[in-house]
Amino acid sequence: MEVILAKSAGFCFGVKRAVETVYEQTGTENRIYTYGPIIHNEEVVKDLESKGVTVLEGEEDLRKLDKGTVVIRSHGVPREICEMIEKKGLTCVDATCPFVKRIHRIVEKESGEGRRIIIIGNPGHPEVEGIMGWSHTPAAVIESAEEAEKFTCLPGEKLCLVSQTTFNYNKFKELVEIFQKKGYNITIVNTICNATEERQTEAREIADKVDAMIVIGGKHSSNTRKLYEICRERCKSTYLIQTLDDLHLELPETAALVGITAGASTPNNIIEEVQNYVRINF
Ligand code: F3S
Repeated sequence: MEVILAKSAGFCFGVKRAVETVYEQTGTENRIYTYGPIIHNEEVVKDLESKGVTVLEGEEDLRKLDKGTVVIRSHGVPREICEMIEKKGLTCVDATCPFVKRIHRIVEKESGEGRRIIIIGNPGHPEVEGIMGWSHTPAAVIESAEEAEKFTCLPGEKLCLVSQTTFNYNKFKELVEIFQKKGYNITIVNTICNATEERQTEAREIADKVDAMIVIGGKHSSNTRKLYEICRERCKSTYLIQTLDDLHLELPETAALVGITAGASTPNNIIEEVQNYVRINF
């Protein structure tokens, strides 16, 4: 069995940086908390828990703390959460990905100058909630062409459009075109992260030429699910797995070439394990 492993599989720069930050903090005396799971990967979160790191599920948990270090994950948080950590006298270690931080700064500045913020993204995603929290005025979140068509702007209103970093690039372009046709006064900033684009493009190219495709990643990770959708469009035999334990695959008997990619939250050791398993067993 021949295997093609995507070069862009696994941790992106921002996730790697955030995970390393938490591991570094485990060596200190303070109790360590992460605001939400540091990544969408149960194995990594469990390992960190075994090293004394506690996941705060949200604002309620944060309110109850009176000491310790809170690490902010790569997704970022709304401004009020940073302020709350500071006010409570907790130590804040901000591991927000610099590409997400850039969006916060754009949103803060543009909304401060009177532009209404439109975020192309998934309204329930923590990164989007974080971005919304840096706008001085309520931001709109648009996820579908239908929502973009329905969107209306007040006379004379100025807009600024940004994107969730992990949004699908082609879908972003489609939604941006809808906004451009409306003739609004709109500043558009493509804030999709290159890591996502590269991972998606490479996955598409590999899925085009293999007999079966394996996507490794957390079931709740939106970038993993998007990778799966992209691969599934090109290769019917596409499988989404979280770890090697899920790999009870019935790969097609005729499969001679198998592609492997992984979402941004998948550690290297899991990718290696799956790759070795497929090479040896199929
Ligand atoms: Fe950052 Fe891009 Fe990863 S925004 S967290 S490097 S997907």
